[in-house]
Amino acid sequence: MSETQPDIRKGLVGVVADVSAVSKVMPETNSLTYRGYPVQDLAENCSFEEVAYLLWNGELPNAGQLADFRREEAGQRALTPALLEVIRAFPRDAHPMDAIRTAVSFMGMEDPEAADTSEPATRRKAMRLLAKIPTAIAAAHRASKGLDAIAPDPSLTFAESFFHLVFGKVPQPEVVKAFDVSLTLYAEHGFNASTFTARTITSTGADLHGAVVGGIAALKGPLHGGANEAVMHMLAEIGEPARAVEWLQSRFDHRALVMGFGHRVYKNGDSRVPTMTRYAEKMAEVVGDRRWMEMSRLLAGEMLAKKNIHPNLDFPAGPAYHLMGFDIPLFTPIFVASRITGWSAHVIEQAADNRLIRPLSHYTGATQRSVPPMAERG
Ligand code: ACO
Repeated sequence: MSETQPDIRKGLVGVVADVSAVSKVMPETNSLTYRGYPVQDLAENCSFEEVAYLLWNGELPNAGQLADFRREEAGQRALTPALLEVIRAFPRDAHPMDAIRTAVSFMGMEDPEAADTSEPATRRKAMRLLAKIPTAIAAAHRASKGLDAIAPDPSLTFAESFFHLVFGKVPQPEVVKAFDVSLTLYAEHGFNASTFTARTITSTGADLHGAVVGGIAALKGPLHGGANEAVMHMLAEIGEPARAVEWLQSRFDHRALVMGFGHRVYKNGDSRVPTMTRYAEKMAEVVGDRRWMEMSRLLAGEMLAKKNIHPNLDFPAGPAYHLMGFDIPLFTPIFVASRITGWSAHVIEQAADNRLIRPLSHYTGATQRSVPPMAERG
């Protein structure tokens, strides 16, 4: 008996899975809004803390609300001695995304409200994660180099604090602003793979830490957040602008993916790329090294001309982070430090109007048969 094949959307391409009021991705105009505000305007005019507040509350904060938000975040950055000890015990060569995934899982076991899935408790836990994730990323990174963790300084902004936790000092304001812009651009993007993972976990009634651990696991993949690291490895492999076009041709010859290009939703350009490229260019000026941006310009031009494929946010973010002085393994964890805001907003939204996420599959395995006794099995 033949069964008709249902309409299968592999990769859920084009499937509208639910409503959301957090952000709107508009591929027809290459634009993106968070709670109605264009992401490029937020990046230029607001701090990342204001954007985090917006994503969680639906409105931008006034001065008093922002001061309270900053105070609350800055006051909760410290890790417990137990977590610092666990981080020191991680294998030196552990992938930093595995390290932050494990650290967040441990934070869940320590959190007094871990199992409380009510909205007020989830909001308090989201704030604790926002505050502690950068400290854990930096502590794990420093431990992998045999260095002690740096105690957080609550007088610093979120962006300044990340530099301080990693390097022990805060760079010049242009560098901090470029980093802050990248955090805003990475904060939220609709039903991407990691956010949808977090929503799926939430839909079972599981808690925020579980959803975020799942989100981090999904983000690590090179087709998603892991691409910002892959971009910088690619640029380092190319080495100099004169080799860019020839190198790209060899990728085309092998039908290989070029990291930092293409997007499931945007087919005519990623709304976040122009802003991030401008700030990456500024970093090249500050550092006095134009090589990476020149290579990027050549690769982007050639990809467009030959394949009609545009760069995504990871393409300018990779060299920007390198020029800011970060080691490549920190790039995707930085994405985590930002996206915790979007994930939490979606977890709150999913839980507020929940229905278990449980799609169907079309079975293509063996036809029904009876279990043979052991002696009759080949
Ligand atoms: N390099 C080379 N070819 C590509 C690339 C790329 N980066 N992206 C897409 N293509 C090709 C595909 O192979 C396909 O060719 P085909 O029709 O000959 O088979 C064609 O372009 C159309 O691609 P889609 O199938 O529509 O791409 P899809 O939506 O399935 O995948 C994805 C999107 C996963 C992002 C893909 O473009 C990719 O792997 N890019 C590289 C990884 C990357 O940069 N990821 C970051 C995503 S953005 C973010 O997480 C911030």
